[in-house]
Amino acid sequence: MVKHMEAPAEAGSYLLQHEQKDLLRFITCGSVDDGKSTLIGRLLFDSKLLLEDQLTALEKDSSRYGTTGSGELDLALLVDGLADEREQGITIDVAYRFFATEKRKFIVADTPGHEQYTRNMATGASMADLAVLLVDARKGLLPQTRRHSYIVSLLGIKHVVLAINKMDAVSWDRDTYERMVAEYREFAIKLDIPNVTCIPVSALLGDNITRRSSAMPWYDGATLIDHLEEVEVGGDVTSAPFRMPVQWINRPDQDFRGYSGTIASGMVSPGDSIVIAPSGRTSKIERIVTSGGDLQQAVANQAVTITLADEVDVSRGDVLADSKIPPESSDQFSVHILWMSADAMLPGRPYLLRIGSIMVGAQITEIKYTVNVNTLEHTAARHIDLNEVGVCNLALDRPIPFDPYRKNRDMGGFILIDRITNATVGCGMISFALRRASNIHWQALKVGKADRAGLKQQKPCIVWFTGLSGAGKSTIANLVERNLFELGRHTVLLDGDNIRHGLTKNLGFTAEDRVENIRRVAEVAKLMTEAGLIVLVSLISPFRSERQMAREIVPPGEFLEVFVDAPLEVCRTRDPKGLYKKAYAGELPNFTGIDSPYEPPVDADLHLNSADQTLEACGEAVLAMLSQRGIV
Ligand code: ADX
Repeated sequence: MVKHMEAPAEAGSYLLQHEQKDLLRFITCGSVDDGKSTLIGRLLFDSKLLLEDQLTALEKDSSRYGTTGSGELDLALLVDGLADEREQGITIDVAYRFFATEKRKFIVADTPGHEQYTRNMATGASMADLAVLLVDARKGLLPQTRRHSYIVSLLGIKHVVLAINKMDAVSWDRDTYERMVAEYREFAIKLDIPNVTCIPVSALLGDNITRRSSAMPWYDGATLIDHLEEVEVGGDVTSAPFRMPVQWINRPDQDFRGYSGTIASGMVSPGDSIVIAPSGRTSKIERIVTSGGDLQQAVANQAVTITLADEVDVSRGDVLADSKIPPESSDQFSVHILWMSADAMLPGRPYLLRIGSIMVGAQITEIKYTVNVNTLEHTAARHIDLNEVGVCNLALDRPIPFDPYRKNRDMGGFILIDRITNATVGCGMISFALRRASNIHWQALKVGKADRAGLKQQKPCIVWFTGLSGAGKSTIANLVERNLFELGRHTVLLDGDNIRHGLTKNLGFTAEDRVENIRRVAEVAKLMTEAGLIVLVSLISPFRSERQMAREIVPPGEFLEVFVDAPLEVCRTRDPKGLYKKAYAGELPNFTGIDSPYEPPVDADLHLNSADQTLEACGEAVLAMLSQRGIV
C-alpha cells in the first residue's frame, strides 16, 4: 500500500541535494608499488576516522607483515583487507571505503593496478566523479598510468588528480616533478579529461596529503585532502534533463497506478510535462509518492513512485523523461566495449544487454577496431580479448530509449551478459545511434508462413544436426530427407560442406568465422521455414550459444536439436574425408575436437550415439521423434 503523509516533503529533496553536493565519489588507481594502499590508509588515518579496535589490529599486523620497518604503522595494511592478499602483497577486487572530513563525505573505490584487473577498475570508475592516479616519482609515467587514464576517460570521469608519490625518495626534487607533470599533461590532451591537477606527495610521510609539506616549499598548490574537499565535480545530476527508468509498476489496487524507479538525472515536480520513451506518448506528472509522503520535487538518485495525469501505457523498462528534451531511441549503436571475460567477444554471438532496468538481446555486428590502452593506437580486430577495449557496432533485438554515455551515464552505460552462464562478460558505453538502422521498416506480406505451409499440408520446422566432423550428421540427415521425400514432404537440406561452397565461402574455421557461419545458416533455415519447408541442417555448430540463438529465432517447438554423438576416436578412425589425418599431422589448424572446442548439447531434443547404433537406426529415431512432435 502507498502511504500518505502530510510531512513537508520538500525537506527531503533539499537534504538529498545537499547531501549529494557534499559527497565525493572517487577512485584510486596505481600499482601495488606506487603506494596506493598507503595513500588511502593515510587519508583514513589522518581524517581520524579509524575505530579504536581497527587501530589496535593495525599495530599488531604491522609488526607481522609491515614493510615500513620496526615500530611504525603500515597504513597499507588497513586497506589491503584479506590476509591472503597481504601475504601475496597485492590487492584484488574493488574495495569501497567511506570517510569524512568536516567539509565533505567521501566514498573511495580502491582498485588493483595490475593489468588483468582492468575490469575491477572499470567497476570502480563507473561510480566515480574523480580519479586519483598515483605514480612513483622514481619511476616516472608508466604504461599503466596511460592505461588507467584511458579507462578513466572512457568511463566519463572528468577530474583527474595525478599524485606524484615518493617525493621523499627523490630528495623532494622539483625538476623530477615538473618533468612528469609536463609529460602527463601532454598525454591527457589526447584524452577527454578536462580537469587535471598534479600534486607532489609522500604518502608514507604524509606530505601534501593532509599536511602541507615543508620539504617542498616550491609547491604552492593544494594538499590532496584540500583539493578533494574543494573540487567542484560539476555536472550536477540535477541540472541534466529529467530521466527515470521505470523499474516496476506499482499497482496495489484498482485506484492506484504508479511507476516506481530511481531518478537517473534531473529533477521533477507535479505538473511537469513528460514523455514516455520509447513509445513517445506524453502526459503530466500528477503525484510523486514516497514512503515518507508526497513530494513537491524529487531529484536524481531519489527512489520514488510517480503517478501520471493520463491513463497511458507504461511498462517496465520505459523511461519517463522531460518532454522538451526527450531521450533518443534506437536499436543500433556505435559503442565502446570493455571486455571482462576470459572467453573472447565474438561478433554475431548473441548476448544479453542490461541498461537500467531493461534486458534485451544484443549482438556485436562489427568490430571497427580495438584500442591499445597503453598507446591509444587502433588495431583491426576480429574478436575482443579479456581487458581489451573495442569500438564496435551493436544491434539489439528491439529499440531502447537512451542518451549517449557522455551525457548521461545511467542512460548510456550498459553491461553484457553471457546467455548460457549468466555471467557479466563486458561493459560498454553508447557513443551514438546508427541512423541507418531506424530507416528500415518491416514489410507486411500478403501470403504468410502458415499459408505456404498449408499449401504443402505440413508443419514447418528446423531439424538441426550437430556433432563432430565424421560423427554421421550428413549421412543421417540424408537418410531422413529421403524418407520425408517419399512421404511426400517438402524439405531442404542445408549441409555445412555444401553451404561453404557458396553462402559462407568467405568464412574459415576460426571461432569468429564459425559464429558467423552458424548465424547465416540459422537465418537461412528460418527463411526456409517461412517458405513452409521442413529444414534439415547438418552443421558441426560447435558452440552452445549459437545453437541456442538458432533455436530462439523461430517460434517455440520449431527447432529440434539432434546431437549426433560419437567419440573423437571413432570419428578419427572413420575419417571419411581424410581431414583428421591432416589435422593430427598439424596441417589443418582449428580442427573441431582437436584444437578447436566442441560444446556438446546439454538438452538436445534427441541424442543419438552413432558409434553404438547403425546410421539407419539413427535415421529412424529422428523420424520417430518427428512423428511424436506431430511433424509427420
Ligand atoms: S562449423 O563449425 O562452422 O559448423 P561446418 O559444419 O560448416 O563447421 O564445417 C563443414 C566441414 O568443413 C566439416 O564437416 C569438415 O569436413 C570441413 N572442415 C575443414 N576444416 C575444418 C576444421 N578446421 N574444423 C572442422 N571442420 C573442418
